[in-house]
Amino acid sequence: MDHLKINPVHQGVGRKNELTTPTIAAAERLNDSYAQWECNPRQLADLEMVAIGAYSPLETFMGYDDWISCIDSMHLVSGELWPIPITFQLPKGWLPKGKTKLRLVKSGNSIATMDIVERFEVDLEVEAQSVYQTTSEEHPGVKALYNGGSEAISGPIVFHEIPRQYTEHEYLTPLDARREFEARGWKTIIAFQTRNPIHRAHEYLHKVALELIDGLFLNPLVGLTKGDDVSAATRMKAYRVLLENYYPANRVVLGVYPAAMRYAGPKEAILHAISRKNYGCSHFIVGRDHAGVGDYYGTYAAQEIFDQFPQEEIGITIVRFEHSFFCKRCEQVVSKRTCPHDSAHHLVLSGTKVREMLSSGQELPSQFSRPEVAKVLIDAYKD
Ligand code: ADX
Repeated sequence: MDHLKINPVHQGVGRKNELTTPTIAAAERLNDSYAQWECNPRQLADLEMVAIGAYSPLETFMGYDDWISCIDSMHLVSGELWPIPITFQLPKGWLPKGKTKLRLVKSGNSIATMDIVERFEVDLEVEAQSVYQTTSEEHPGVKALYNGGSEAISGPIVFHEIPRQYTEHEYLTPLDARREFEARGWKTIIAFQTRNPIHRAHEYLHKVALELIDGLFLNPLVGLTKGDDVSAATRMKAYRVLLENYYPANRVVLGVYPAAMRYAGPKEAILHAISRKNYGCSHFIVGRDHAGVGDYYGTYAAQEIFDQFPQEEIGITIVRFEHSFFCKRCEQVVSKRTCPHDSAHHLVLSGTKVREMLSSGQELPSQFSRPEVAKVLIDAYKD
């Protein structure tokens, strides 16, 4: 792979990072040395992240040395900070002996070829405990890991096309995003990761950030999420209507983040931050229970994990927010840092409660969700 050197948009924050870019070439004719594999949605998402440089410095899936180093110390063998293994898993014994190439296929179409230089056993429980802090299959990330299979392969990849999952116009590769920020003259850019429908507390974080930082990169995750999360198409519709009505267009860029959700809480927060650095962002928002699910992680564990690393190593500034909610006495979104009233005055709705209200066709309170957004969600639940 070539290294594409470009100047980072932000100056003085983080280190200058290069983006890896894929080798793209036409597929060769299959022969006896090839095996062929229909990729699952999570593999497709990881492939896309590698292909567009969003997982830079990774140029392919990890081999054993990187896997174990990542599990043990959250670093690649090369010394870069990297919190979560990105492996190409296969069911044990599926790959016949003697195959040296794997054709990666999406719905029957060839998207990439891997030269298999390494084949190794993944200890799934060790990975689960290290990444997710549990080995329970009730955790959606652990379940996906176990379902992936205990063999992994690695080797250089040649892409035949960029496996793009999201086909609407809000698609920016990291390079596109850097160019866009540069064209807008932004020196500081704050990224916002999200997998949930936008609500007023999210909007509060954005607007506080916009008081201090040049531009906001809204970067909703559109790869695979767990079954009861709201679909990416609906979330994007909600974003469009919100941006049209309540955000200054010249201060915000909306572009999707093609990764799959792992629900790994703190370690996924680091992965999210590193990839947003690749998109050219100087700052990254980490709020309450970032990338969490159930009660597996502490409310602020995803913020505290960054304390283990020096700022130069993280390379992007983490902007931490406390749990925010609407206070009826303050008549605005606040947090404990800004509101003196007790919880009887606070409107806090859990994700489960919101889903229940939506599926029974109930209006969401306007203090929780803008009416335009609530309408998009209620309509989606009707379909
Ligand atoms: S996540 O899985 O992508 O983290 P979500 O879309 O709900 O889920 O959150 C996006 C970002 O907003 C995360 O950084 C999260 O910590 C933060 N966040 C969500 N809700 C709140 C809230 N009420 N108060 C503070 N931060 C929040």
